[in-house]
Amino acid sequence: MHDGAVVPVPAGASSSSRPPPDRAGVGLKSEHYRTILETRPELGWFEVHPENYMLEGGPPLRYLEAVRADYPLSLHGVGMSLGSCEPPPRDHLDRLKKLVDRFEPFVVSEHLSWSRLGDRFLADLLPVPMTREALDVMADNVARAQDHLRRRLLIENPSTYLRFDREEIPEPEFLTELTRRTGCGLLLDVNNLFVCASNHAFDPCAWLDAFALDAVEEIHLAGHAVDDAHGHPIRVDDHGSAVIEEVWTLYREVVGRRGAVPTLIERDANLPPFEALLAEAHLADRVAGEALGAGGGARAGARAESGVG
Ligand SMILES: [Fe+2]
Repeated sequence: MHDGAVVPVPAGASSSSRPPPDRAGVGLKSEHYRTILETRPELGWFEVHPENYMLEGGPPLRYLEAVRADYPLSLHGVGMSLGSCEPPPRDHLDRLKKLVDRFEPFVVSEHLSWSRLGDRFLADLLPVPMTREALDVMADNVARAQDHLRRRLLIENPSTYLRFDREEIPEPEFLTELTRRTGCGLLLDVNNLFVCASNHAFDPCAWLDAFALDAVEEIHLAGHAVDDAHGHPIRVDDHGSAVIEEVWTLYREVVGRRGAVPTLIERDANLPPFEALLAEAHLADRVAGEALGAGGGARAGARAESGVG
């Protein structure tokens, strides 16, 4: 049991003993269970929110078992609230551990966010202030969760729309320090980075310069909406449309710097036929292959030298 001290997982420890998939994946939606099981599409992997499968039995678990029999799986949590002042609830960690043991995901990830205060749970991933105190809290909670799960976690960069008055640490440095203190890995959501860069008017390449790209073990790609906020366009991370060209360009930049890592097409709203998501995953494979250079291929886990491609 965690005693309150931040104890990192061993440096360089991977999230799983299994090799990561070498092709892009898609978020698994119940609407697509049958299509996937009937057609067994050529795809690298699937990702689910574990909270949707914290059940004693029933069809969702049976479908997930059937999909898992043929594909690698990633668990992408939304319920740990690692940015809360309180530690992650033990019963939630117990349920997550049960799923990890049962489905043997190649990565387990969560968000740089909070959503719980006492026994109140908010249905949003709320932003964490970029302060030294919040970093201490987040690092302690990540370490507790990793201890409990006996696994390395990946932490995802958020989409944000407002900034706190008092920010002591730039976001990429906050995440870099989090991985240094806890040994956690990082999940780089390229769409979230693009959304934030646009909403807060910063250069996403400068953000990448300050970010621990070598700790990235998963990439997310998604579409977003553009809303009007009193005359100022604001980009909203709604996962409701296809990945836009500017995000593909930023993905190319990331893969060129980092090398290929397992990449996921996220889609939660305006769900299209499964074939559309499959086509986007195949496009991600092609873009990654181009970024790595002719003949490079989209080999997961490859370490391209910074600046290659
Ligand atoms: Fe994401």
